[in-house]
Amino acid sequence: MKQLVVYSSQGGNTKKLAEELFKQLPEENKDIAPVAEAPDPSGYDVVCVGFWYKGGEPDPAAQQYLKKCKSGKVFLFATHGAAPGSNAAALGMNAAMEMLAGATVIGTFSCQGEVPEKVLQTAANKDPQPPWLKDAASAKGHPNGSDFMDLSEALTKAGLKPKPAPPKGDVLTGDHAM
Ligand SMILES: Cc1cc2nc3c(=O)[nH]c(=O)nc-3n(C[C@H](O)[C@H](O)[C@H](O)COP(=O)(O)O)c2cc1C
Repeated sequence: MKQLVVYSSQGGNTKKLAEELFKQLPEENKDIAPVAEAPDPSGYDVVCVGFWYKGGEPDPAAQQYLKKCKSGKVFLFATHGAAPGSNAAALGMNAAMEMLAGATVIGTFSCQGEVPEKVLQTAANKDPQPPWLKDAASAKGHPNGSDFMDLSEALTKAGLKPKPAPPKGDVLTGDHAM
């Protein structure tokens, strides 16, 4: 099972998430690459594609790569200024799924990514202001350890990571079973 992590990142948030994802994948036969240097997805069984949201969609470099994913399994991950669970967050992920050229989506994960002050100011001066701007203050410090735990759950759900073993003592087995 050959696995590839590809990411696009302008400010470093998605790169941080991608490196954590790569670390969490138990598969030994795995590669990681920024999108500009990424190999063709067709040589892999599973490709995890990471992007950041720009104008409500995956950033342009990631869009190009998503369009190359014609077969196999894909796990999508992303960072955004929008709040987790918000409409803006869902729309960006849906847009990414629609760009895939035939690959099967086995799971998705996204979380907030800190937005630089300068970007916030530019967005605040727009009329109308983008819908994600009101949530962007709460993106400070993300992605963080709590996001990485949520990522772990998403990877397990997608079948890329085994379920964590139950804590010892919780399950009665052998001589102790009744
Ligand atoms: C030009 C620009 C446009 C952005 N547009 C959106 C957007 O439409 N929706 C959103 O939720 N966040 C938006 N953001 C915030 C980024 O998606 C967020 O900060 C992300 O974590 C950046 O990832 P990176 O550090 O990997 O580049 C925008 C940021 C920039 C710089």
